[in-house]
Amino acid sequence: MSDATYDGPGSHDLVTWDRIAERYIELADNRSTSSFHHLADFFHERLKPLSGKSVLDIGCGHGWLTHSLAVQGAEASGIDGSESMISQARRRYPDLTFHTADLTGGLGPALTDAGYDAMVARFSLQCISDIDPLLRDTAVALRPGGLFLVSMPHPAFYMRERVEDPVTKERYRKVTGYLELETRVLPDFGGHRYFHRPVSWYVNSFARHGLYLDDMREPHQHPDTAGSRTRDEWNEFEKWWSTIPVFLGLGFRKAAAG
Ligand SMILES: C[S@@+](CC[C@H](N)C(=O)[O-])C[C@H]1O[C@@H](n2cnc3c(N)ncnc32)[C@H](O)[C@@H]1O
Repeated sequence: MSDATYDGPGSHDLVTWDRIAERYIELADNRSTSSFHHLADFFHERLKPLSGKSVLDIGCGHGWLTHSLAVQGAEASGIDGSESMISQARRRYPDLTFHTADLTGGLGPALTDAGYDAMVARFSLQCISDIDPLLRDTAVALRPGGLFLVSMPHPAFYMRERVEDPVTKERYRKVTGYLELETRVLPDFGGHRYFHRPVSWYVNSFARHGLYLDDMREPHQHPDTAGSRTRDEWNEFEKWWSTIPVFLGLGFRKAAAG
């Protein structure tokens, strides 16, 4: 099943990302929000040793992850559709290569033919209205045995309303319409589109292109209120909060040759 039924082309979203890039970058530079504490080591841990590995950062934004992979020895480059994001990336990391493309059209012939040891996509796939052409091209561009690592808001639990039953005091998150493909507008950074797809949709879409699930992470949520207190010191609410994961990491592997 393709998700090309979503209304509006990727260019529509890129106008938005150009507009909100500055606010996003400010937040990312600050790194105080929980999204930056979760899965922080996923990419580095799964790709080590990074030395000499060619890695493409898909939807790289202003390039901070591309840079951190390069610092650890990877031949890292990035691609994103927002001119504002990419001009910041080039300004900050002039030694690295950044490409611009609307990824709803795929990687383009040059990058598809380039050959990569690994791909990463941090918090970008859920922002791209149609990822089928991208998966088609990355499956070609990845070398046999190569990993494609993804992180994203957890499709089941992210931004799902928190509820406390007034009688039983039981707490839960309200999950509705999980299996429906849906376009939402998230208020973050000034508003942008988010394409909700269930986890199975991602797993099956990658598999159709020969990229098979190899790793799945649902880290405990670290409550923003917890500061540096250890889990043992968290209050009852924080302990409950931590047990519903709002971020997801997925690793896909292209079959080895032969
Ligand atoms: C939430 S940001 C993540 C940026 C970066 N990976 C990070 O972790 O900070 C999502 C990124 O997806 C990019 N994006 C959204 N739609 C796109 C499209 N159709 N083609 C290319 N990039 C797109 C945006 O420009 C933005 O940089």
